[in-house]
Amino acid sequence: MRVLIVGSGGREHAIAWAISREPDATKIYAAPGNPGIGQIATCVPIDATSVQELASFASSEKIDLTIVGPEAPLGAGIVDEFQKKKLKIFGPDKRAARIETSKSFAKDLCSRYNIPSPHWETFTDASLAKKALDHQGPPWVIKADGLAAGKGTTVTNDRREAETAIQRELKREPGRIVMDEFIDGWEASLTATVSGGRAQWLTPVFQDYKPIYDGDTGPNTGGMGVYSPVPAVTPSLVEKVKRRILDPSISALVKEKVPFRGILYLNIIVKHGTEDPRLLEFNARFGDPEAQGIAPLVSRGLLAHMSAVAEDSIRPPLPECSSSASVVVVLASAGYPASPVTGAKITLGRIAQSNVVLFHAGTTKTPAGELVTAGGRVLDVAATGPDVQSAREDAYAAIGTSIHFQGMQYRRDIGSGEIRRRRLEQIQT
Ligand code: GLY
Repeated sequence: MRVLIVGSGGREHAIAWAISREPDATKIYAAPGNPGIGQIATCVPIDATSVQELASFASSEKIDLTIVGPEAPLGAGIVDEFQKKKLKIFGPDKRAARIETSKSFAKDLCSRYNIPSPHWETFTDASLAKKALDHQGPPWVIKADGLAAGKGTTVTNDRREAETAIQRELKREPGRIVMDEFIDGWEASLTATVSGGRAQWLTPVFQDYKPIYDGDTGPNTGGMGVYSPVPAVTPSLVEKVKRRILDPSISALVKEKVPFRGILYLNIIVKHGTEDPRLLEFNARFGDPEAQGIAPLVSRGLLAHMSAVAEDSIRPPLPECSSSASVVVVLASAGYPASPVTGAKITLGRIAQSNVVLFHAGTTKTPAGELVTAGGRVLDVAATGPDVQSAREDAYAAIGTSIHFQGMQYRRDIGSGEIRRRRLEQIQT
């Protein structure tokens, strides 16, 4: 099978790496890819949102399956364009991707179909939103309605911070914000694939770390690490999420004539002292860095699964996944997330641990062939093991001995096992 992977981050490197281990994958392209992906695939310099150019490429190169990594091409209608040209592609079309690209679309669906989610209101007018701060009372949760690269949410007790967030988020497309009820609880990320109007869990449950510093302090980022399994997640909780959130959402989309096909990622929150999950948000693609934690757990069958989902099969065969623990530590540039320093030389030694994989996120090569930083999140160190403790020890050992760039910052507490509360402070950059 000839495969094209769209995107250039750590998630796309992880997908490419997992696909490269599949015997059925005869040729892998990535657009635009990155230097890490370039070690296992042919990178083509087409932007991830140039949907027509990508469709022409897929057609001329006789690509059997295109896999879309990030949300931006989904929002730009890549799936619609490929389907128009009868090219097989993994991901939801533009209307279904609104489940991620429009928070108000997702919240409205939850309200109309009784899917448990925090109470919410939308605003396009700053003065009305500020008045609502009075009747809602702190803590306030203010979210951009559209895509914000994981950085459009502010949770705060400080009235001035809340007002600043309202002004800032209203400036983003589409000029609308969502204000959510605050739930004091812990979060988890669940990943399902959806096809033929049915959803199946694809992977174990992860917990991700958004704030930049240890102890969940400092500004929010796209994600500084993940681990799985999460001790607080019980089989009965996962079953409740399926029965109360996942299945009703899929049926609601079918009823609304917006059938969804592809990855559905659920960010849920469980109020402390309860086992009642509520939906915080959906994503229409793999989480990043969850995908980097998932890829090393998949032993085989991912390509066949994705291909069957792209055909809207009612029962796509699930890939084989090991039940090992998985930990991903993200290595970020100096200045991230406010103003990442790029162009720092990256030194990579041999990684001695056979259970550790290094994924490239924001790297590039200079004309002289030197590997340098090219973004906020630079590299992802993914380790598996019999339990989270041993996986995290190996991930951190690999970082300490094999990887360096000037200003490299990373959290030392990924998977450290503490129960993590949702943070109450200003978290926007
Ligand atoms: N890790 C969360 C996300 O990908 O949005």
